[in-house]
Amino acid sequence: MNREDIYARFETLDRQATQGGGPDKVEKQHAAGHMTARERIDTLLDKGTFCEIDKFVNHRCTRFGMEKKQIPGDGVVCGYGKIDGRLVFVYAYDFTVHGGSLSETNAAKIVKVQSLALQNGAPVIGLNDSGGARIQEGVQSLAGYASIFRQNTMASGVIPQLTAILGPCAGGACYSPALTDFIFMVDSRSYMFITGPDVVKAVTNEVVNKEELGGAYTHSSKSGVAHFMYSTEEETLMQMRELLSFLPSNNMEDAPIVPCTDDINRRVESLQTVVPEDPNQPYDIKDVIEPVVDDQYFLEVMPHFAKNVVIGFARLGGQTVGIVANQPAFLAGVLDIDASDKAARFIRFCDCFNIPLVTFEDVPGFLPGTAQEHNGIIRHGAKIVYAYAEATVPKITLITRKAYGGAYIVMASKMIGADVNLAWPQAEIAVMGASGAVNILYRKASDEEKTAAVNAYEEEFSNPYRAAERGLVDEVIMPRDTRVKLIRALEMSRNKNQSNPPKKHGNMPL
Ligand code: HXC
Repeated sequence: MNREDIYARFETLDRQATQGGGPDKVEKQHAAGHMTARERIDTLLDKGTFCEIDKFVNHRCTRFGMEKKQIPGDGVVCGYGKIDGRLVFVYAYDFTVHGGSLSETNAAKIVKVQSLALQNGAPVIGLNDSGGARIQEGVQSLAGYASIFRQNTMASGVIPQLTAILGPCAGGACYSPALTDFIFMVDSRSYMFITGPDVVKAVTNEVVNKEELGGAYTHSSKSGVAHFMYSTEEETLMQMRELLSFLPSNNMEDAPIVPCTDDINRRVESLQTVVPEDPNQPYDIKDVIEPVVDDQYFLEVMPHFAKNVVIGFARLGGQTVGIVANQPAFLAGVLDIDASDKAARFIRFCDCFNIPLVTFEDVPGFLPGTAQEHNGIIRHGAKIVYAYAEATVPKITLITRKAYGGAYIVMASKMIGADVNLAWPQAEIAVMGASGAVNILYRKASDEEKTAAVNAYEEEFSNPYRAAERGLVDEVIMPRDTRVKLIRALEMSRNKNQSNPPKKHGNMPL
């Protein structure tokens, strides 16, 4: 073969592989309102940075006529590229090739990318759009999933792992996304379920459509499986880039610091009046968070699930921080099972990746009732205790109002290991609210005696000063000074060096 023929052969093969399932399948994909795997990668990465790996890998199945259905690259596009100039690894299921189903060789391609990401300390991003296990291959495909899950687990806490669900994701295949740190879904276009509507109907007689069973809104608001939901694929991919801008590439790097143009000494006058004078009135904790952080920009995670706790990323003085906050505007900000799960996993993510934690606390307690007790609030609430106590990143806490009982202790209190505890003058740090306390201590007293006791209890405990006398609050601050005080505390703790006792791993309550 002469040189021209050699090059021509390469170009033919390359073109074939680039076409995926071919023009008809691409058209079908577009008609369904989806991008192809390569279009998604091009949208996600910095222009022209994608380097594809294993473009000519093919499946080895010879059953059911599969030997005649060979498409170079098979059903997943893998490689590496850059986002904002930083290295990332990516794998994108190609629905135009056998429905993006997972063959043994597709699994090997994905595992290769996962391993490279782990070895080179860079995030790995999965773009899912797949009919699941390749039916013609059977157990080889299932084994492939297992090897992907294992790599997900090995990479957990070492490199950030992000997943977008951009089409179907069914059966055990859901467990790879679930093992990653953040799941993005597209509203009305993506689905995750262990068993689809037909199986649900056959087994339980329950009639449910796929959107209601496992659509983006269901997983964002009810199950807590998804962390982000957007209306288009483009927006979803752009937001994956945005999230990565807050994160280090691996657990050996510090959280990124970007130049800060927002005055670190900026006073926030609106905070002086944000907490209502009536302690039983709600307010929106985001009216505290947003004005305080750099450029008032807060990237909220899981905004539709367990709204009584708010989590997300922001920057203070240019430094990425993870924010955890009780939300008085929803269920009075109580901690319940879902809120505990939501906060605990986020705290652990931040701790894995050296992201300081800033906690805004206004919590009246844990949610009472049989539903919570019988479903294990003790077990779930223990997760948040464990997560805060175990975290060695800088932990700064601000008590804006209520800090009652066990929930006070849990929310990054001084003795659970917070580095700096701040409180506003209206903070109430006590075992419980005044009337609850009086009803227990003075059960048989007259109404007048009870009123007097409530006043006395409020005078004694409905303030931050008993805690400050014991050093459990480091500083009582004016609300308007919150931004500068948080930034100073973060600067102080920047070189914090703390480690927990060596162990294989702890036995976190699950
Ligand atoms: C092989 C598959 C496939 C699969 C789809 N295709 N799923 N090929 N294995 N799992 C093929 C189809 O035959 C078709 O090929 C092409 O992909 C497109 O599929 P369509 O059905 O035409 O597309 P659409 O109507 O959009 O429906 C998509 C779908 C449906 C909802 C995903 O295909 C479907 O229900 N597939 C099966 C899903 C499933 O049950 N998978 C197993 C889940 S269990 P042609 O050649 O006609 O274009 C599982 C276990 C994992 O995955 C366990 C891990 C531990």
